Amino acid sequence: MEFSFASRASKLLSSHLHKVNKEERQNSFISLAEELPAEEFFPIKRLGEAARMVLSSDPSVLQYGEPQGYGPLRSWISEDWKRRRGMLTSADRILLTAGSQQAIDLITRLLVDIGDSVVVENPTSPGCLQVLEMQGANIIAVENDLEGLLPDRLEEQFQSVKPKLLFAAPSFSNPTGILWSLERRKAVLELCRKYGVLIIEDDSYGELHFGSEEAASRFSVSYPTLYALDAMDGGNQVLYIGSFSKTIAPAMRTGWAVGDQRLIRGMSTLKQMADWQSSSMNQQILYFLLHESSFRWKEHLALLNREYEVRLKLVLELLKRPGFKEVKYHPPSGGMYLWIQLPQGLHSEALLRASMRLGVAFLPGSRCSPGRQADEYIRINFSRPGREELLLGMNLISEAIQEFTARR
Ligand SMILES: Cc1ncc(COP(=O)(O)O)c(C=O)c1O
Repeated sequence: MEFSFASRASKLLSSHLHKVNKEERQNSFISLAEELPAEEFFPIKRLGEAARMVLSSDPSVLQYGEPQGYGPLRSWISEDWKRRRGMLTSADRILLTAGSQQAIDLITRLLVDIGDSVVVENPTSPGCLQVLEMQGANIIAVENDLEGLLPDRLEEQFQSVKPKLLFAAPSFSNPTGILWSLERRKAVLELCRKYGVLIIEDDSYGELHFGSEEAASRFSVSYPTLYALDAMDGGNQVLYIGSFSKTIAPAMRTGWAVGDQRLIRGMSTLKQMADWQSSSMNQQILYFLLHESSFRWKEHLALLNREYEVRLKLVLELLKRPGFKEVKYHPPSGGMYLWIQLPQGLHSEALLRASMRLGVAFLPGSRCSPGRQADEYIRINFSRPGREELLLGMNLISEAIQEFTARR
C-alpha cells in the first residue's frame, strides 16, 4: 500500500544524513565520520561483573521501575556532579533518559510549537538539528568565535525573533570542539536571563578534556557549566543534559536531564508515552559499577582523556601531509572531533565523494548547519579510529584534496 506520512516525517525520511550514513557503512573501509567513542576503553569486564551482581539478586530488579529513573543512580549523579562539576541539584530534579539524544527530543517536544524560533550554535550537532527540524522549529543559527557564542549576534536575534530556546554545548561542541571562556558563559547566561530564553545545555562531551592533571582538576572552576553558574544565583534558566555514552558506553543508553521540576515532570510524562522508562536494569548496573564496585570513575575519565589526546596529536601531526597545506583549524582541548576548513573553493560534499572512492569517510560540514552553510568544512572523529586507521585515513583524505587542488 501507499503510506501517507505526516508532512514533517517525509522531510525526515529524505534526510541527507540518513542516506550518507548508510553509504558510508557499505562502501568505505575507514570511517572518520562517526560519533563513536573508542571500544577498547569500554569497561566491559567491570560492566559484566556489575551485571552479574545485579542479576543475581532479587528478581524485582527486572520489574518496571520509577518512570523518572532508578533513584540511587539519580542521587549518585547529583552527588558526583555537585562534587566534581559544582552543580547544585537533587535527585528529584533529574530524569534519566535513553541517552542525551532522548533528552533533546523530549524537551523539544515539550516546549517547541511549529514555527517557534530556536537558536543553535552555528555549526551544531546533526542530531540536534534533526530533532528541531522534525518539530517544525524555526532554526536560527548564531556564529561562534573561539571563545563561544558571539553575544552581539545573539542579542540581535533575541531582539528580532524572540526565540523560546537556545541550544548550546559550551564544553567541546560537536562539531567544532570549542570550549567557551568563562566570560562568554556569563555573558550568554546574562542575555538569556534578560530576554527570558531557556538554555538547553548539552554537556555530552564535557568530561573529555585534555591537558595536565592540574588543569583537569581546575576544569570545573575555570569552565563551570551554565547550569552551575545559574544555580549559584538560584536561577532556573538552564536545562542541563548529560550522558554516560562517551564516558562509559553508548549501549547503556543512559543520559539525563537536570532542571526545573516543571520541565522534568513534563519530560517524564512525555517519556512515559514513548517508552514508559529507560532500562531500569541498565541503570542498576551502572549504579553498581559507579558506586559499589572497585571501578575507579575518575581514573577511567583520566585514561580516556590521555588516550584521546594522543589520538588528537597524531591527527594534528598528519595534517602536515601535502594535501592539508591550505586547510585551517584550531586544535580543540577536548571532545572527539577536529573541525577543518578546506582550501578555498573545495566543497565538503564533493570531497566526501572523492574520499569515499579512495576508501575513507568524514562528516561534511554541511550536515552541521541548518542552511548547509558550512560546506567548506569537514569534521574528523579522532576518538574511535586507532593509530593505523588514522594514519591511512588522513593520508587518503590528503590524496583526495590533492586531486582537487591539482585541477585548479
Ligand atoms: C552533541 C551531542 N549530543 C547528544 C548526542 C547523543 O548521544 P547519546 O544519546 O548517546 O547520549 C550526541 C551523539 O554523539 C552528540 O554529539
